Amino acid sequence: MTEVGIDAIEIWTGKLKLDLPNTFAPAKGEDPEKYTKGLGLNASSFPDTYEDIVTMGANAAHRLMEHEGLEPEDIGRIDVATESSFDNSKPVSTYIAGCLEGVYDGKFSHANKGERKFACVAGTQSIDDAYNWIKAGRNRGRSALVIATDTALYARNDPGEATQGAGAVAMLISEDPELVSLSTEQGYGSADETDFLKPNQQFPSVDGKRSVQVYLARMREALEDFEGVAGRARTEDFAYIPFHTPFPGMVRKAALFGYRRMIRDTQQEEELADEIGRQPREEAFGVSGQGPESSGTESHADEEAYEEALNEYMDGLKRTDAYQEWYGRVIDPTLTISREVGNWYTGSVHLARTSALRTAFEEDRDLAGERLLVGSYGSGAQAEIHAETVQDTWERKIADLTIDQQIEDRYDLSYEEYERVHDVHNHDIESDLDQGEIEQFTDPHGEFVFDGWGRMGERKYRFVE
Ligand code: COA
Repeated sequence: MTEVGIDAIEIWTGKLKLDLPNTFAPAKGEDPEKYTKGLGLNASSFPDTYEDIVTMGANAAHRLMEHEGLEPEDIGRIDVATESSFDNSKPVSTYIAGCLEGVYDGKFSHANKGERKFACVAGTQSIDDAYNWIKAGRNRGRSALVIATDTALYARNDPGEATQGAGAVAMLISEDPELVSLSTEQGYGSADETDFLKPNQQFPSVDGKRSVQVYLARMREALEDFEGVAGRARTEDFAYIPFHTPFPGMVRKAALFGYRRMIRDTQQEEELADEIGRQPREEAFGVSGQGPESSGTESHADEEAYEEALNEYMDGLKRTDAYQEWYGRVIDPTLTISREVGNWYTGSVHLARTSALRTAFEEDRDLAGERLLVGSYGSGAQAEIHAETVQDTWERKIADLTIDQQIEDRYDLSYEEYERVHDVHNHDIESDLDQGEIEQFTDPHGEFVFDGWGRMGERKYRFVE
């Protein structure tokens, strides 16, 4: 049977940097360790004044097409996943295709273009759509371009301001992929939730604490669903487990829940029993659910007693050598890029995968044939889990990534500059950009830039040599 998966990947970070412990925390009168230790973040990426979701997405896609030697005719689908769209009708993929057609001779005239929305899980859903399109035999030998692009900005003084970010991940989805193939098996955890939404507004309304609990609950359900079709997941089955990473501290929580579930009723649980006891069982407390947001018919007191016992077990578990060794080997390498760039919404889980593969490459690790377990999440809310198998040619696809250099080259904003940039990107504030007079902090070259507004309110772009 034909394998389908990710053939190539490219990343474009917003070109400005907000240093969280050294610039943001002091201005807010906060302890820098809230960022570095609590949230696990060093910096956020920001778009320069000539950047937006179209330029970042088009730049990532352009770089990918150049690297892969592709022409527009080789692409049969362009799907853009974003939570930062600025148009309720015309999809961002048409703008990106328009940019690319400006630098290629060919056109994407016969490519199906669309825009996917389900908060941060939409990038994974777009890969899913491409997978199904290819598996159905409708692709005529062509590949799909999936672009996850977001400016994850929050209103000033919202708690989410700590976890902002901006960037794009472009992925080529093909038959016989050279990076990772995707499992047919997948699991979902999905429910109507009000944790994070943007009802026709630019900046999100967020119940941050609740969103953390909803993430964990839906991820648990997705893992159960995945295991229902793929069999039990064990800690040693996967070289890396990239999760959606709104901030690394969130993944720290998810990984602990996942580990606990994976060692349940195994020799590993028995081996740890002398040190921390066995996991509390729901039956012993008369409850039917487990973990965050259990939905059984248990009494409140039973549930509280179970939660307390569970928290105590988890506190012990996270301190064990076995857990810490596993976390350091399987989870921590997925977080290195995210720590420096913040939340990229739809792109975040794809950064996590890339971060892990890049670590393996740097460590000269032989990863061919090894498996990844990928956990995506979108508020509102839905989690998806599937497995991926690393292909023999994976190193070739990772070797030329320039993300480290891009991160290094970002312009380091002062707090006052950050405030100005945030205002420039705020659609409700009339900025000098509209008169074409705004300052820019970096000089574009070899990339697409925003070039003002057209007569119908459309955005215009040009390529700067
Ligand atoms: N040293 C070490 N750790 C510290 C600290 C310090 N000085 N100060 C705070 N922390 C820890 C807190 O204990 C907390 O960790 P915990 O959750 O493990 O307990 C973490 O840092 C964050 O601190 P908190 O006070 O909870 O931050 P906050 O009130 O600013 O809210 C979010 C954090 C994530 C809820 C907020 O940034 C948000 O709303 N983000 C957007 C929504 C989001 O990303 N949701 C995730 C699911 S998609």
